[in-house]
Amino acid sequence: MNREDKFAHKAKEYEALQRRLDTAKTIASKVKENINLTKETHIIDFGSGTGLLLEALSNDIGKVTAIDISPSMTEILREKELPCEVDIKELDLTKQDLDIQVDGIVTSMTMHHIKDIEAMIKKFRKMLKSDGFIAIADLESEDGTFHSEDTGVEHFGFDKDEFKKIVENCGFKNCKIETVTKISKPHKEFNIFLLTATK
Ligand SMILES: C[S@@+](CC[C@H](N)C(=O)[O-])C[C@H]1O[C@@H](n2cnc3c(N)ncnc32)[C@H](O)[C@@H]1O
Repeated sequence: MNREDKFAHKAKEYEALQRRLDTAKTIASKVKENINLTKETHIIDFGSGTGLLLEALSNDIGKVTAIDISPSMTEILREKELPCEVDIKELDLTKQDLDIQVDGIVTSMTMHHIKDIEAMIKKFRKMLKSDGFIAIADLESEDGTFHSEDTGVEHFGFDKDEFKKIVENCGFKNCKIETVTKISKPHKEFNIFLLTATK
């Protein structure tokens, strides 16, 4: 299949920006504040990229299934040695299914690349064990100036209340959404939310 790798031009430099590392670390620590992780925990990181979020969680979990469509981003992840089991699945989760059941699904800065949010949240629910959790971090509503290049952006961030409603309508419980950090760019600051919920 010949599909365009929208992160091919970014992958090698992706981790050179300190703010990306800081954002992933902050999101990971907020995930840990809200969710009890153990060395038995198996999670999916959806849109794992170079692995910044899963790396920051890797001491606290047993296994991560890293799902990403971009060969260039996963190539960076493959080079990392981490203190948990890492299973990389290079696929487009909007078009393919993965027949596994995990304890939790985390995702950071990926949902704004997904056109049909509701369909993806429903797909997440199917991949979770009965007491599983989701932890979704992404941009809050913005004016379209966050991205300076086309990496396949489908949403200019999300309204927190609307996003929470979508998740609740998909059957999730204990939904909590809060602003957890900001990304500072020279022209503006952009809020990042974290939503946590259980199946
Ligand atoms: C902005 S990057 C975020 C990477 C990482 N989560 C982080 O916080 O640094 C978004 C990632 O989502 C992946 N992605 C976008 N759409 C996807 C899809 N439909 N299926 C799998 N991965 C996807 C991209 O390839 C990219 O690596």
